[in-house]
Formats: sequence, C-alpha cells, structure tokens
Amino acid sequence: MRIDVITLFPELVVTMRDHGVVGRALREKLVDLELTNPRDFSKDANNRVDDRPYGGGPGIVMQYAPLAKTLEHVKSISSDKAKVVYLSPQGQRLDQAAVRNLSQCSNLILLCGRYEGIDERFIEAHVDEEWSIGDYVISGGELASMVLIDAMVRTLPGVLGDDQSAEQESFENGLLDCPHYSRPEIVDGREVPKELITGDHKKIASWRLKQALGRTYTRRPDLMELKNLSDQEQQLLNEYLVEVKAKNER
Ligand SMILES: C[S@@+](CC[C@H](N)C(=O)[O-])C[C@H]1O[C@@H](n2cnc3c(N)ncnc32)[C@H](O)[C@@H]1O
Repeated sequence: MRIDVITLFPELVVTMRDHGVVGRALREKLVDLELTNPRDFSKDANNRVDDRPYGGGPGIVMQYAPLAKTLEHVKSISSDKAKVVYLSPQGQRLDQAAVRNLSQCSNLILLCGRYEGIDERFIEAHVDEEWSIGDYVISGGELASMVLIDAMVRTLPGVLGDDQSAEQESFENGLLDCPHYSRPEIVDGREVPKELITGDHKKIASWRLKQALGRTYTRRPDLMELKNLSDQEQQLLNEYLVEVKAKNER
C-alpha cells in the first residue's frame, strides 16, 4: 500500500515514520508513506496557497490552483487511479469497517485541510471521498490523517506481530474488546479473574467473549442493537448480567 499525504505541515505527519507500529511497517516496507507540501507548487512569490473567502467573513481558504498542481504531481508519482480522500469534519464518520475498506486501496492520497478549509470547487472536481474522525473540529487534517493511517496500517497483513491481534480488537466483530490483565496476579488487593489463570483455553475464550458481550451491552448499546446474537452468545450475556447483579448486591 502506498499512502501520499498532501499537507502544509509535513513535519507533523513525518513523525509517524520513526515510531510504533506505523514506523515499523514503513521500515519493513509493508507500506510506503510520502508527503507533499502544496507550498512547493505555489506560483506566489511568498509560496502562499490561501486567500480570503469570497463573501467576506473570518479566516482564509486553501486555493484551487496550488492544490490541483500538487495533486497532479502526486498522481504522477503514485498512480492516476489513486483514491483521493479529504479529511473533513463534514465527511462520513470513520469506523473500523471504513478503515478496513480504505486499507484495501493500493494507492491512497490523503488531503489535509487547514484554515477554513479548501475551495469547494477542488473538492467537487478532485476528491473521491470525505471522511471525518468525529463530530468535533480540529485545526487541520494532519492529525486526522495520522489517525486514519495508523488505523489502516495496523489492519494490513504482517504489520502486527500476531495477525489475529487486529481481528480481536474492539469493533472488529461488532463488539468491544474484553478487559486485559498482566502480572502480578494480585496488585493492591485486586485479583486477576480466576478464569484467566486456569490454563484452559476453552474457558478463557468463553470468559473473554462473555466480557466483550457484557461490556458492549453496557457501554455501547447502539453496537449491541446491530448484532445478531447466537444462542450461545445470548446465554453468555445473560450470565454476565446475573454475575454483575450479584457483585453489585454484595
Ligand atoms: C478548522 S478545520 C475547518 C472546518 C470547517 N470550516 C468546518 O467548519 O467544517 C480545518 C481542517 O481541519 C481538518 N479537520 C477538522 N476537523 C476534522 C474532523 N473532525 N475530521 C477530519 N478532519 C478534520 C479538515 O481537513 C479541515 O479542512
């Protein structure tokens, strides 16, 4: 997969190259991340790429021409068929299914807005999809791109040490993840759930599924409504609710 980011602040996005899961994936050449600054394609003597909005009002808007030149260049070094994604609070809200879908693209161009955003005519002419990281406004598309890149890269085969670990995370099967524990067995008087130290893999899997069902039911009933529970899952959820009730009554 090749990801190109068009940004006025490449120095923000470039930090991904040196850290964590994405940094490792880049070093292992499982993914390629390239950054291009529209200022390098400005015809203005001061490399300006923005101007005041028509109709007046506050702020400035990123202009069509430098972005069009930038995109033309990026497509020439990536692919003519690359999907162009604009990170925008007005886009569809990202979720794990969308992340997985986008991660199937071999060439993706992420466009980061700044200021009041981008001249609408550029979006109409050149953007294939608009995606939002949530119902709030941040100052630029760089952090949003980094969120999307990180989420996509960790789903790519071979990126996480154990391929299953991406699949067992929250949202992958419509549920939140189960709670996790590490050594020691008792800390500050709090014990690890006994099911996890039985060594019985069937029991452990069943406990984890029960917790995932219970957590999703209590924390994200909206996700639960979308899920068709099997008889076994329904029974585990019932057990969870009985156990929580008994614990609260103690
Ligand atoms: C200050 S925002 C512009 C907000 C725009 N005037 C609006 O109200 O819809 C500047 C840039 O940040 C990025 N951005 C802001 N919030 C975002 C979000 N929730 N998801 C994705 N990108 C976002 C977009 O690229 C946007 O062009």
